[in-house]
Amino acid sequence: MARVFSGIQPTGDMHLGNYLGAVRQWVADQDTHDAIYCVVDLHAITSPYDPAELAEQTRRTATILLAAGLDPDRCTLFVQSHVPAHTELTWILNCVATVGELRRMTQFKEKGRGQESVSAGLFDYPVLMAADILAYDTDRVPVGDDQRQHLELARDIALRFNHRFGKTLVVPEAAIPPFGARVMDLQHPTAKMSKSANSPQGTIALLDDPGVITKRLTSAVTDSESDIRFDPEQKPGVANLLQILAAATGKAIPDVERDHAGKGYGALKAATAEAVVEFLRPLRARYEELEADPGRVTALLTLGADKAEAIATKVITRVRDAVGLLPRA
Ligand code: AMP
Ligand code: TRP
Repeated sequence: MARVFSGIQPTGDMHLGNYLGAVRQWVADQDTHDAIYCVVDLHAITSPYDPAELAEQTRRTATILLAAGLDPDRCTLFVQSHVPAHTELTWILNCVATVGELRRMTQFKEKGRGQESVSAGLFDYPVLMAADILAYDTDRVPVGDDQRQHLELARDIALRFNHRFGKTLVVPEAAIPPFGARVMDLQHPTAKMSKSANSPQGTIALLDDPGVITKRLTSAVTDSESDIRFDPEQKPGVANLLQILAAATGKAIPDVERDHAGKGYGALKAATAEAVVEFLRPLRARYEELEADPGRVTALLTLGADKAEAIATKVITRVRDAVGLLPRA
């Protein structure tokens, strides 16, 4: 079976964009792939954060992933910092990646903009991500559209490594979903929905109350026209609602577009709110079940780290050998 690997940061609560852009695919891939998923806590410390909350956020993110349908019997779920191979491989790949290509990363430019000082870790973030992927001989990486450039970099690093040291690393492919790949902020539909949202009103967290979800969707920003069509350029707000509704109901966008033609924005918002509330209801129920037994999540993560480490250790040994490091006797 081909291997998939993906990661998510434990910063803030997971939102609809994370789910539709990435996690939904992770759940599906468990049946068709050897699937490995990681809560990337070392990526979370590249930007300012609260150390008192990191561990709890990490556990919470893992719990939401389990509630969303990751099944430890069918995938490997673990915490990045529990497997030291990630940081070890990062160092070696740092000596293959170039400063020039890291400078071109748009996410670095965006996150660094307006900051008085930026950590070297934030600059190196994409190399750690490449190490995550390459440490597992990954074939496919399901991510949202915003990670496309990082994925390209991971591929470039692997190709360059193989060219320089002989064929050692598997060169991964990105798997970016055709829709739902970029869920937009409900209040600012030209910006992506994000954990560090411009306004919390623009975001739907997976664990939000049904009342909050309904309010946010029914007050989503649209435009001053009234026709319903999927046109992300001209009508970003309406297009965003249509893609969310399609994803939540499992329909194709042209079908929901047709269903709502001529019905007005109010009806579209109400239908989307109802669909999202229904869609998230079982996730919320499973989350509450898991929360009642935190020891179980901890045990699952320990098991996950053991499984992951067994794979990564083999790859890192191969890499050490390829770059010519003296083996420890
Ligand atoms: P992050 O929240 O940055 O750790 O992202 C975790 C995963 O969710 C990544 O695969 C992202 O590409 C995806 N993702 C984050 N925000 C969005 C969004 N607004 N729309 C679609 N996918 C997203
Ligand atoms: N950078 C990714 C994001 O913000 C998270 C991530 C870290 C990741 N390592 C990864 C995704 C490896 C896929 C594979 O979404």
